[in-house]
Amino acid sequence: MSITLKTPEEIEKMRIAGRLAADVLEMIAEYVVPGVSTEELDQRCHDYMVNHQQTIPAPLNYHGFPKSICTSVNHTVCHGIPSHKVLKKGDIVNIDITVIKDEFHGDTSEMFVVGEPSILAKRLIETTQKALYLGISLVKPGVKLGDIGHAIQRYVEGKRYSVVREYCGHGIGRVFHEEPQVLHYGKPDTGITLEEGMTFTIEPMVNAGKRHVKLLSDDWTVVTKDRSLSAQFEHTLAVTATGFEIFTLRSAETIEATHIPSEAYNA
Ligand code: MF3
Ligand code: CO
Ligand code: CO
Repeated sequence: MSITLKTPEEIEKMRIAGRLAADVLEMIAEYVVPGVSTEELDQRCHDYMVNHQQTIPAPLNYHGFPKSICTSVNHTVCHGIPSHKVLKKGDIVNIDITVIKDEFHGDTSEMFVVGEPSILAKRLIETTQKALYLGISLVKPGVKLGDIGHAIQRYVEGKRYSVVREYCGHGIGRVFHEEPQVLHYGKPDTGITLEEGMTFTIEPMVNAGKRHVKLLSDDWTVVTKDRSLSAQFEHTLAVTATGFEIFTLRSAETIEATHIPSEAYNA
């Protein structure tokens, strides 16, 4: 298999799928409150996707995943399975939404804070979102994937946090996870060179403690080995002639915020 370049017609379909995935995150935000179970959040998203959007929740039955969204709470890094577990004040949770519309995937995730975050949680979440924006800002034809991974790693480690290595961003389109792998660490001037028409996700997972992770016995839930807090943000985007287009941008996110000159991160 190789990297598929999308035609303008396919890009338009990705735009629609991306917007729909972002809409699910915007819809669910008001329900992420103390006392709600992650299963209730799953059911609400499932109903919205299937009945309101007429989209397909891509995670459901994907390699046997049992639910329609991923909910990763506190020290869960990714792929948390919605359950009867109830959210309480101070929890942080990543909600990861992937929809399929007209054969194309839109994949995006965001952190939510239940009640008031601790100072550590707030700083971790801000750093992770900025790491995503920093990676996105670099995207344009001619740039190499290693340049992006390196910039994310350097920024995160500069804040004394760590980048998870075992999971990465990915090409996306008709296929949920396709080439290339988009690592959130690496060396400048290595890896494949970006070309117009490539579509992929960037989705850094950042731990407050060490980078090492552990897979739980359910074979899905990934947690930090040292039980430190973990955060993640994800967008689906395309490489355009002059830069990038984010398909999963939410209304609360300004496009300016996502274009960050890399000098701004040197501090
Ligand atoms: N949405 C995740 C990603 O960003 C993948 C979830 S796969 C699942 O790639 F099976 F766990 F849902
Ligand atoms: Co993804
Ligand atoms: Co995702």
